[in-house]
Amino acid sequence: MENQHKSERKAPLQHLAIIMDGNGRWAKKRSLPRISGHQQGVQAVVQTVDECIKVGIRYLSLFAFSSENWGRPQKEVDALMELLLQFLSSQRQRMLDGGIRLRVIGDRSRLSESVCAAIAVAEAETATGETLTMILALSYGGRDEILRAAKQLAGQAIRGEIDLQEIDNKKFSTYLDTAEIPEPDLLIRTSGERRISNFLLWQTAYAEFYFSEVFWPDFDAAELHKALADYQQRKRRFGLTDDQLDSDIDPQL
Ligand code: IPE
Ligand code: IPE
Ligand code: MG
Repeated sequence: MENQHKSERKAPLQHLAIIMDGNGRWAKKRSLPRISGHQQGVQAVVQTVDECIKVGIRYLSLFAFSSENWGRPQKEVDALMELLLQFLSSQRQRMLDGGIRLRVIGDRSRLSESVCAAIAVAEAETATGETLTMILALSYGGRDEILRAAKQLAGQAIRGEIDLQEIDNKKFSTYLDTAEIPEPDLLIRTSGERRISNFLLWQTAYAEFYFSEVFWPDFDAAELHKALADYQQRKRRFGLTDDQLDSDIDPQL
């Protein structure tokens, strides 16, 4: 039944990306410290992961900490890093039991040794998970990612290790942190903000966008299903015409 339903979908959703925003405002509304909002946000992450597995989503990207978030008060940055360490240890068994493969994207050179070590362990331990790949964007910025990729490529070109004629979109993507991960089909941002804030700039070229009004800690299965239902109504054209898309012939993208 489930499979039949899936094959009827116009736009199968393989990869969901989320900008989890509004933790601070959630806390402020309740006269709580911002960190309480982040703590509550972890519950929303756990619920969302479970629901994504239920509906058969294969890749879930979560924007957890941006390159620009390093500029926040040190106390908040430290608390977020601590929360991440707690998350990795508290979710370890869940990830292993649930077939969740963790992959962290972003500039690790700015992360502390203990955070880097915990990430490396979690990635290694969950590497064979086949149910859901959870991509955690940490110390991540889309521009920074593209720059790091371009620098790496330039280095190889200078050393004569790569022929510039070989570089096309597909090849360039392999230099990004998201190498081998399909591009997001749907990007959700919570808290009513309508901007990309430097998330997955390259990868969201043809993603569908959905903006949820709720603050991230209040995001739940019902809210996720609203976004998924909305996505099902979309028609993705990838620059082509309706006639081309409606024909059985696969257009050369
Ligand atoms: C998102 O919530 C989490 C992070 C950026 C780490 P915010 O902390 O940005 O919450 P608001 O936007 O201030 O409400
Ligand atoms: C984006 O949220 C980053 C994360 C959700 C981790 P921000 O709260 O940092 O974005 P801006 O500052 O509102 O654009
Ligand atoms: Mg915010």
